[in-house]
Amino acid sequence: MQVISTAKELRYINGKLNLSPVGLVPTMGALHEGHISLVEKALSLSPLVIVSIFVNPAQFNDKNDLKNYPRTPEDDLLLLGKVLRENDIVFTPEVKEIYPETDTRKFSFGNLDNVMEALHRPGHFNGVGQVVSRLFDIVKPDIAIFGQKDFQQLAVIKELVRQTGDKVKIIGSPIIRENDGLAMSSRNMLLEPEIRKNAPVIFKTLSAAAEMITGHDIPEIKTFVGKQINNVPGFDIEYFDIADDTELIPVSSRNEMQKGKRYFGCIAVRAGKIRLIDNIEIGLV
Ligand code: PAJ
Repeated sequence: MQVISTAKELRYINGKLNLSPVGLVPTMGALHEGHISLVEKALSLSPLVIVSIFVNPAQFNDKNDLKNYPRTPEDDLLLLGKVLRENDIVFTPEVKEIYPETDTRKFSFGNLDNVMEALHRPGHFNGVGQVVSRLFDIVKPDIAIFGQKDFQQLAVIKELVRQTGDKVKIIGSPIIRENDGLAMSSRNMLLEPEIRKNAPVIFKTLSAAAEMITGHDIPEIKTFVGKQINNVPGFDIEYFDIADDTELIPVSSRNEMQKGKRYFGCIAVRAGKIRLIDNIEIGLV
């Protein structure tokens, strides 16, 4: 693999290699098996894979979160070195490479701006839109892989591409979990031991909610989910919504769920000082 940190060099090498399709996996580093599963998907589809590692200041609506975000550059390169091929590229830009000038673009993602993460992290998806469109502009990928763990982010990126008319194909990839069910996340390493021990309650509760849909309506399920989470010391639910996977409009009753559409229960939890998100498909039987 080659490690490149300037946009100029990346463009040059990409042009010289002239391979296609080019597959991009954007990340913020502190890599884990969830990230690697995206890289493996890209490797299976593309003769040239580019993994970007960039902690994007624009998407942090909380300055402390940005300061405390885990950074493990040496380990990241070791992990990628095990899976990437000779020509594949790790792109590790500094802030000035991505934002030579302050990015003042304002995106509008329609309904996606009015639900779940967008309500709790104002400005977050605008920052994600800025960095991902910059990465697309530098890398010019044919394919880009994103995790379904960040359910709303995946929908936002698809909407971004629909609006810009970019030719890149967006591919979603399944959530990878720890053995105890906790969705892998770079932030998991920041959990205090007692909180980490109890963190499987999130996926356990989501799984129970998915079972409940056959015999209970949504308000009841929401009450159940809230109680299960809030009963654990240090855990506080921010939201639990059941929404379709395209417009992400939360439904308030089972009657609103339409056949032929897919629905997901999406949750955000404050676990000690750390905010965790997860989701599960809720299938009507
Ligand atoms: P980051 O949190 O590093 O995640 C990078 C990619 O890995 C995202 O597409 C995310 O959905 C995926 N991912 C994270 N945990 C996963 C898991 N347990 N299973 C499967 N996929 C997982 O998401 C971002 O960075 C940033 O917002 C980014 C898109 C890079 C823009 O800055």
